[in-house]
Amino acid sequence: MTTILRTVNLTKRFPGVIANEDVNFDLQKGEIHCLFGENGAGKSTLSSCLFGFYQPEGGSLELNGEPVKFRSPRDAIHAGIGMVHQHFVLVPDFTVLENIVVGTHEHGWQLGLDEARKRVASLCREYEIDLEPDALVRDLAVGQQQWVEILKALYLGAKVLILDEPSAVLTPEESIRLFRIISHMKELGLSIILISHKMVEVMQSDRVTVLRKGKVVGTVCPDEVTPKELTRMMVGRDIELRVVRDRSNKEAAKEPVLVVGGLSYRDTRDNLMLDQVTLTIGRGEILGLAGVSGNGQKELFEVLSGIIVPGSGNVTLAGERIEGLPSRHYMDRGVGLVPDDRFREGLIPEFGIQENMILGWQRHDDYTQGPFLNHKQIGTIAEGLIDEFRIKAPSADTPVNHLSGGNAQKVILAREFVHSNKLLLANQPTRGLDLGVIEYVYKQIIAKRDEGYAVLLASEELEDLLNLSDRIAVISGGRITGVVDPENTSIEEIGLLMAGERKEAAE
Ligand SMILES: Nc1ncnc2c1ncn2[C@@H]1O[C@H](COP(=O)(O)OP(=O)(O)OP(=O)(O)O)[C@@H](O)[C@H]1O
Ligand SMILES: [Mg+2]
Repeated sequence: MTTILRTVNLTKRFPGVIANEDVNFDLQKGEIHCLFGENGAGKSTLSSCLFGFYQPEGGSLELNGEPVKFRSPRDAIHAGIGMVHQHFVLVPDFTVLENIVVGTHEHGWQLGLDEARKRVASLCREYEIDLEPDALVRDLAVGQQQWVEILKALYLGAKVLILDEPSAVLTPEESIRLFRIISHMKELGLSIILISHKMVEVMQSDRVTVLRKGKVVGTVCPDEVTPKELTRMMVGRDIELRVVRDRSNKEAAKEPVLVVGGLSYRDTRDNLMLDQVTLTIGRGEILGLAGVSGNGQKELFEVLSGIIVPGSGNVTLAGERIEGLPSRHYMDRGVGLVPDDRFREGLIPEFGIQENMILGWQRHDDYTQGPFLNHKQIGTIAEGLIDEFRIKAPSADTPVNHLSGGNAQKVILAREFVHSNKLLLANQPTRGLDLGVIEYVYKQIIAKRDEGYAVLLASEELEDLLNLSDRIAVISGGRITGVVDPENTSIEEIGLLMAGERKEAAE
């Protein structure tokens, strides 16, 4: 084995936090090395130190046995290291091709876009990546944006690829494909650092380094440990993900909270994204939404929260027609939304936790004093939520872009869970959360249901939908292809509906 990259007692501090403490980590040539740990354990920070994005205060870095210092990502890129960040750094108004070429100062623009286009096309072929080079990045789904980032790293000639939670934004099918591609890269001699919260991926890697509170707990080979042992290494306790719940409230569910009829929506490019969607969610009911991402889920969530206006159809909330009203009115009526693309849609990253905690809900009586915001009250409420959701942060003023990915997600969850009171719309709410937090979030969702909320829950984890939902609606090509009872269905049946096969008597 040849060690490519190594850290010796690496230490990185932020005000009030030791994000990495005496970390000894090594990456071997041609291995997939997974970093595993709770939200805020220091995985992204360690990766960013390896990529020259942060400079560690203590310890040292070695590349191919020689000490190195990366003063910036440029140095790291020069040394053949590529990184795909947890929160992408693409330019939305540039095309895929422009995004790949931008920043490659030396060659890119001079080389000419035509030459670049050829290289990108050949990389796409080699790795079976399906991307339209002239599409605008702003029009791409998050999963597709990730491929742009990966291509960019390959284009820059990375030999070491650091992927920070790549599969958090991918569908299960895309994740499998990503893993196939990573394995292929490994065969070609690339070395990969993979951050993941998903046990299947962790177990497929060659070695796993577990981090806890900034320190290395240990480095193990997956075939020497069980998932349970790994989880215990990560959190120091066992986690019970199966949510025990009773489904005895079927009567209550008959009282409809949300009734949607014949909803259709065309996007700006005239694609029919929602096609005659009809569904009902009752009081105290969780309606699961299953589907391959990009089949209208995002648009459905946006229509139901007033972000976009449907072309036709109606939305009735607690007996009142509300389609076409601006989103403010949805919030005033107690509709909460957890969007799937948290950094673009759910947060203002430069703002503090407490501002983000009231984002959109600032007109709430609790937060105002006459025409002014009541900052004291907002601070108190934010601190309570930080506590309740165990958000790891030095204070309520900490900007959200200083939080770890999972902790930023918790800010949105806390905000929407506490402010909504009738309808909770949750699109991939557990994305990027560690297993312990997922357990907590699921318990919260069940608690909301038991308080009488109507919940629309989309998740790419079918198992979780089967566990949590009272009914599951399946969406394909913008249409609801069936509504099934989780207790009397199978993954196969849902799979067929997801592929567009229609079920008789679908709502
Ligand atoms: N730029 C920053 N400024 C201040 N503190 C930071 C900054 N980046 C990270 N931290 C802190 O360092 C700690 C480790 O964060 P890091 O992002 O490395 O965690 P992580 O393991 O990647 O978690 P997640 O799974 O949630 O992404 C956290 O307490 C975080 O708040
Ligand atoms: Mg992270």
